[in-house]
Parts: sequence; C-alpha cells; structure tokens
Amino acid sequence: MHVSGSPTLSVLVREQLAHPSPIRQIMKMADRQSILAMGLDPAQVISFGGGWVNHAAPDAFRQAYAEVIGDPALFHRSGGYTATLGELECREQIARFDAHLFGVPRLAGEHIGIGLGSTQLTHDLFRVLLDPGDTVMLLDPTYANYEGQIAFAAPGARVVRLRVLDPDTWTYLPAADSQRVIAEFNQLFDVHQPRLVLFGAPDNPTSQILPHPVAEAMLERTAAASAWLAIDFAYKCQHFASPPPYYAWSPADHHNLIAIHSNSKWARGLGRRLGWIEAAPPVIDALERVQQCSILCPDTLSQMTMARYLAKALADGSLCRYVEDTNAQYAHAAQVTIDAIDEHLGLPRLTPAGGLYTVVDVRTEAEAFVRHALQATGVLVVPGGGFGASLSHGVRISYGPLVTMPDTIREGLARLGHWMRSI
Ligand SMILES: Cc1ncc(COP(=O)(O)O)c(C=O)c1O
Repeated sequence: MHVSGSPTLSVLVREQLAHPSPIRQIMKMADRQSILAMGLDPAQVISFGGGWVNHAAPDAFRQAYAEVIGDPALFHRSGGYTATLGELECREQIARFDAHLFGVPRLAGEHIGIGLGSTQLTHDLFRVLLDPGDTVMLLDPTYANYEGQIAFAAPGARVVRLRVLDPDTWTYLPAADSQRVIAEFNQLFDVHQPRLVLFGAPDNPTSQILPHPVAEAMLERTAAASAWLAIDFAYKCQHFASPPPYYAWSPADHHNLIAIHSNSKWARGLGRRLGWIEAAPPVIDALERVQQCSILCPDTLSQMTMARYLAKALADGSLCRYVEDTNAQYAHAAQVTIDAIDEHLGLPRLTPAGGLYTVVDVRTEAEAFVRHALQATGVLVVPGGGFGASLSHGVRISYGPLVTMPDTIREGLARLGHWMRSI
C-alpha cells in the first residue's frame, strides 16, 4: 500500500501565508464575530478602515445595465466571451473618456487593454515587465498590495523605496522640497537601476499627488535608461484642485509610460470588476498574451454597459458633471475629517489632495495602538506599517465609506480623541 503525507502548497504561497498583510489582519479583527467576541456592539462600531467609495454610481450607468438585461438578445450577447483585451468599442470609448476628462491626446483603442479591475491588471503587468533579479522602485509609503503582487507575479524581483514622508516632521517631502526628492530619486536610480518605477496619483494611503517636476524627472530618467514608468490612477477622478500636467500624458507620446486605471472608485463599480491599462501597443499586445492565461477575457456585461453609458454621457456632458459632483462630495468629507482630527486628536496629519484618505501621526507603534483603540472605542483605523516603514507610527483614516455621513466621521474622531486624552 502506498502511504504518503499531505501534499504541500508551493514554497512561494507558504512564504506569503507566513507574512499576512497587517491591514488584512486588522480588517479581520473588525468582522462581526471578532467584534462580538470583544464584547462590542457591531452597530456602534465606526470604521475608517475601508478603502472603498460610497457615493452613488451614475444613474445612466444603472439604466445601461437595465437596457442590456431587459433585452433578450443583448443579454444573450453579454453571456459570451469578448476578445482577450476587451471589445474594441469599449476600448475606444475608454480612450475618449480619458481624452474628455483629462485631455490625454492621441489615445486610441490600440493603447487600451481591459481587465477585471486594476488589481488583476497590475499583477499581470508585473508579469509582463519584470524578470527575476529586476528592481522596482516604489514610494514609501505607498499602496500596500504592490509588494505581494510583485512577489506573486515576478518572483525574484526586488523592491527599493523612495521616501516621500518624513516621519519626524510629518512633511510630505515632494511638496516641501521637490528638488531634494528628485536628487534622492536620481541617487537611488544610479545605485539600483530599476526596471520599473511605480507611483499612485493620488496615492493610497497619503492622498497626495506627486508634483509635476518630480513626475517629469522620473519620466525623463526612466526613458533615458530604457526603464518603465507606471502611474496607478485608481483615484484619478478624485482630485480637489486642478490636476498636474502629467495627468494628460499619453502613451502615444511616451512609449515607456504605463497608466493603470480602475472603474472601482470613480463610478462606484468596486464589485463590477473592470479596469484598464493605457500603454504603447507592444505592452498591450504582451498583456493580451498574459491575460489569455489569467482571465481569458474581461467581463462582457460590464464592457457592454460601460461602452453604452460612456457614449451617452460623453455626448450629453453628464460625465463631467458627475465627476465634478462626486469630487465635491469627497472634498467635503476630507475637510470634515481633517477638521475633526485637528479638533479632537490635535496630531500631525496630511491634507488630502484627492482620494479617500489621510494619514495621522499617532507617535506610538501603530498596530498596538489600532487594536487598543478598537477595543476601547469601537473605532477602527488602519495601522500604517504595511504601507512603508515611514508610517510605522502612523494610521490611515479613510473617509471614503463615510462620504455621505459627516456626523459619523465627527463622532468617530471625537471618541478616539476622548480615549487618547484618557490614557
Ligand atoms: C492605489 C490602488 N490601486 C488599485 C486598487 C485596487 O483597485 P481595483 O478595484 O481596480 O482592483 C486600490 C484599492 O484600494 C488602490 O488603492
């Protein structure tokens, strides 16, 4: 008789399972079971933890779904595969979207590859661009998921970090002294020769937008070194002042530039998974080869409805109005949040330039702080360490889920402040 032990998981997965994201761990602490186990009433918990939006999707978008679902022939079509990079009609409408809202010139369907949201696309993009031994330059702090995505999609690639937050003064360095940050970027570049530089605009968790001179220096240096520059535009539509000129850069003009886009945040399509990459055609063709093995094709219903909605909303001007109205809601929620932080916590924080977040200096090890705060106040914030070493004494506070609930934002921060003064 053949006797064998349990089959094992891959070494890579075992390594990653041994290092779970601290953010996920904290979010697990805030699930219903854990809250009840702590003796808290789930109805009283206020969460600033979620990285999601809570405004309404455009009603015309909902109607586009109703039209497709209500028509037997269209509904039948929505159950079929599309091309691996998405339907050309949808790719062309997306190119028009970015031209219309941000003035990105000379974009065509050939520059667009559609996927199932920017998480899948970023993973597949790392597969497209990186070999073992390559280096990726990220900001510190930046979006916590990149490191895991690099580990899975490009095993053997290394990460170096460009510091953008001074944890001693809580200064966002690129805004305070862009020349110094450019000099540090060039120094790091000289030493590590990264194959890819990636930043978010606005970034998660800082909600800061890298100033144009820094982005320009990155583009010049990466182009000269035959390296890639990728910008994660998941929150591109959420900006509270005029965006910098690089929001209009086009991969038709800059062949080493890649823009990662998501439908999740601007149109509240988080669960209707759709995103796209804008890049020069050879990158898009390579993405097609990877997506043949990862998703086969993006969601057909989402593409059909997106193409229908955009055709209408671009023509009647309602897209611009929708984006402006949404921006006003997030700008208001951001202001309520920082006013309440100043009033109740009185701690250093950043002023959001867009996006859904701010970061606050809690002047102590953040993971323990977050656990104690949840237990004592029923208020959840996210510890900063997962975003980068500069945030190990900081927390991320998200106003995205509470965008329509300013009183809840105020109450949550008042509770936190009251507890902090009592310890
Ligand atoms: C910077 C950034 N990129 C990408 C994503 C994921 O977006 P998607 O829903 O398109 O996968 C997030 C989500 O929080 C994010 O913060």
